[in-house]
Amino acid sequence: MEIVHYSVLKEEVCEYLKPDSPGQLLIDGTMGEGGHSEMFLTRFSDLKVIGLDADREIQQIAMKRLEPFGDRVGFRHTWFNEYFRDYPEEVKPDRVLLDLGISVFHYEKSGAGFSFSKDEKLDMRLNRDAGLSAEDIVNDFDEKELADLIYEYGEERLSRRIASAICRERVVNRITSSLQLAELIKKSVPQSYRYGRIHPATRSFQAIRIAVNSELERLDDVVKDALNVLKIGGRLGIITFHSLEDRAVKHFFRDMNKKCICPPELPRCKCGGAQIVNVLTRKPVIPTEEEVKLNAPSRSAKLRVVEKVADFSLRKNLI
Ligand SMILES: C[S@@+](CC[C@H](N)C(=O)[O-])C[C@H]1O[C@@H](n2cnc3c(N)ncnc32)[C@H](O)[C@@H]1O
Repeated sequence: MEIVHYSVLKEEVCEYLKPDSPGQLLIDGTMGEGGHSEMFLTRFSDLKVIGLDADREIQQIAMKRLEPFGDRVGFRHTWFNEYFRDYPEEVKPDRVLLDLGISVFHYEKSGAGFSFSKDEKLDMRLNRDAGLSAEDIVNDFDEKELADLIYEYGEERLSRRIASAICRERVVNRITSSLQLAELIKKSVPQSYRYGRIHPATRSFQAIRIAVNSELERLDDVVKDALNVLKIGGRLGIITFHSLEDRAVKHFFRDMNKKCICPPELPRCKCGGAQIVNVLTRKPVIPTEEEVKLNAPSRSAKLRVVEKVADFSLRKNLI
């Protein structure tokens, strides 16, 4: 079993999400190869962890890695939003961690077309049992839909040009491999863009992956449902890797932190504001220079953490 992913912001995650009493339950909503979970299980000997992942293959790695912890750790093959929506455990969690996106494993070892530098089948589904693959999206979406998703999810200013090149290519050859897609994107952009700081297909690949796995929709749902099932006094920590995710998390946390502003003489709250969380990270926690030097993919990580202070049902507009 070879581990290829370095967990990001490990010490910071530990500081914010460490248990504050014995026998607590942490749900690692994005267990991946199990790096964060291993850290918690090792440092806190009576903590229990349940780890979720939509990808069966990476979950097998975590299962092997965490075998020494026996029944202190459980595994669920599921999307995190579906799990928290239909929360199946008897006990509510004290801590929830979401470390969004994909793992180095996906780029390096999954063979599922996440990397623009590998010649693999263009799939990008975390759960390969169902849903549209990247191949379906690039070959079947109409040009405007493709351009819009590359613009929106990839923040790619050359989205129209790239979508048009994809549509021209697929008339001649079905686009079936990651390298084929990367090469055609590279050819479609101006020379100056071709040899920039990042590969010219980076943003488009990110956008297609986000669309394939409905990443933003799942995030919108999970923040509400995870907060809903969390115990009062429990903590939710979310690590994001791009601005769309971070914005969504920041706004949701800020909204949940709002207090009632009704005049005290009103018998009942009319403004719908009721403080559900305490935001523990006024600014997002980011990796140190040293961490970025050791692990380049950590450079865009941002951690935000809240503590739940009241029941969700106080927010009438959300139930
Ligand atoms: C960044 S990796 C997690 C790395 C892990 N924290 C570690 O330290 O090893 C994210 C993992 O979450 C999974 N994942 C992403 N979105 C998911 C979702 N909506 N539901 C369940 N799993 C998801 C991915 O398959 C991937 O394995």
